[in-house]
Amino acid sequence: MADSVRSRPEIRKLPPDVVNRIAAGEVVERPAAAVKELVENALDAGARRVTISIEAGGLKRIIIEDDGCGMSADDLLVALERHATSKLVPDAGGRVDLLNIHTMGFRGEALPSIASVSRCSISSRAAGEDAAEVFVEAGRMEGPRPAAFTGRGETGTRIEVRDLFYATPARLKFMKGERAESMAVTDTVKRLAMANPHVAISLENNGRNSLRYAAEAEGASGQLARLGAIMGRDFRENALEIDAEREGVRLAGFAGLPTLNRGNAQMQFLFVNGRPVKDRMLNGVIRAAYQDFLARDRHPLAALFVDLDPEYVDVNVHPAKTEVRFRDAGNVRGLMIGALRHALAAAGHRASTTVANSALGKVRIEEVTSANLWSLPPAPERQASPSSYYRQPSGIDFDQPLPPSGDVMAGLHEPPAPDYRHDGAPSARVEPEAPPAHGMPADFPL
Ligand SMILES: Nc1ncnc2c1ncn2[C@@H]1O[C@H](COP(=O)(O)OP(=O)(O)OP(=O)(O)O)[C@@H](O)[C@H]1O
Ligand SMILES: [Mg+2]
Repeated sequence: MADSVRSRPEIRKLPPDVVNRIAAGEVVERPAAAVKELVENALDAGARRVTISIEAGGLKRIIIEDDGCGMSADDLLVALERHATSKLVPDAGGRVDLLNIHTMGFRGEALPSIASVSRCSISSRAAGEDAAEVFVEAGRMEGPRPAAFTGRGETGTRIEVRDLFYATPARLKFMKGERAESMAVTDTVKRLAMANPHVAISLENNGRNSLRYAAEAEGASGQLARLGAIMGRDFRENALEIDAEREGVRLAGFAGLPTLNRGNAQMQFLFVNGRPVKDRMLNGVIRAAYQDFLARDRHPLAALFVDLDPEYVDVNVHPAKTEVRFRDAGNVRGLMIGALRHALAAAGHRASTTVANSALGKVRIEEVTSANLWSLPPAPERQASPSSYYRQPSGIDFDQPLPPSGDVMAGLHEPPAPDYRHDGAPSARVEPEAPPAHGMPADFPL
C-alpha cells in the first residue's frame, strides 16, 4: 500500500533574483532588446539627447546616457525592484488603468530583468537632488551611494550594463555573434530614432561612430528629415506626405513613390502611438494600396505613424512590447489603405527622381519635359506627362489609370473586411479600373 502513495513535491515561492532572471528570458532576449528598454526609459524620462555605446554587439558593454529627468537615490532603490514603475499612476480609488498607457514603459520589469543577468551600474541626478549611483551584480545591489554624475545635462541618467547574460550561460549560447547582435542593436536604435525626430540620438559601436542623428524640428519637415537620414536620401526626395484621420485614428508619415521600390519589405515601418511595432498587417495594407502601381514582388518604402486614444490599442500583448492589438483593426486598415491610395492618386504624375533618371539613361526628367516632350506620342484621353510614356524596369505600369480620388476616399467609409488574413493578403481590395482605351506604342522616341 505504502508504495502507491506518491510523494508530493512542496510548492515554493521563487526567490526574487530567480523571478527576475525568468522575466529577463522574455524581456531581454538579446542585447538589442536591452538597448530598446533602456532607450525607451530615457525617452519616457523626457530626454532630448540620448547617446548609446556598445561593445562586442552589446554583450560586453552597453552604455546609455540621457539628459532626462533623472532619479534620486531613493528612486534608484525602487527602480530596480520588480514591478516598480513611475508610469502607472493609480486613481483616487487606488485603481490603475492598464488601458490608458501614454509611456513606452509601464510594467516595471525592464531594469530589474536586465540587472538580474548582468553587471549593471546606474548613476543619476534628478533636479534638486545629489547625484547617486547603484551597482547591481546578478541581481545583488550595492548602494545607493553619492556619486559624481558623469552623464549629460543638468539632470539625467547613465546606465552601464556589462557582461549581459553572464548569469544565464544557456542564453549566452544563443547569441548570434557580435556582428549580428550589433546589427540588431543598430536596427533597434534606427526605429526608435524614426519615432523621435526631436531627440538627438547617437550610437557608437566598438568605439566608432555608427549612427548620429541631430535633433530635428517638430512637425512633418523634421520627421521627413529624420526619416531621410535613416531611410536614405532617395526616400526623402521621393516621399509623399500622408496625413489622414478617421474615427479618432490619425495616420501620418511618409510613403515612397512606387518608382522607388525594393525586392523586400524591410523598408516599411509602422509606429503606433510613437512605439515601433512589427505588424504583419502593414505589409498587406501597403500591398493593397500599391497594387495598381507596383508588381507583386516589389515593395515600396514607407514609414507610417498611427496615433489613437490608448484605450483603443492594447500594448500589453508581447513581452518585448513590439506588437500591439487594435480594438478596431478594420478601421485602422481602412484608413491606411485609403490614405495611401489617395496620396498615390494625387501624385500620379510624379516618378521617382532616382529611378526615372537611371531608366532614362541619365536624361533628367525635367529635360524630358521641356525639350523632348514634342517627340512623345500624344495621349488621346489623358494629359501627357513624361512618366506615363515609358514602362519602368521595376514593373510599374504608369499607363494604368489612377483611381479618381473620390473613389479612394469612398473606400474609407466601407466597413472593414471581416475575412482579413495575416498572410500578407490585403484586407480591403480596391479593384483596378479597366485598362485605358489607347495602347502603348512599342518603341519610345526617348
Ligand atoms: N533613464 C531613466 N531616467 C529616469 N528614470 C528612469 C530611467 N530608467 C528607469 N527609470 C525609472 O525606473 C523605473 C523602472 O524602469 P523599468 O524600465 O524597469 O520599468 P518601466 O519603464 O516603468 O516599465 P517597463 O518594464 O515596461 O519598461 C521607471 O518607471 C522610471 O521611473
Ligand atoms: Mg522601461
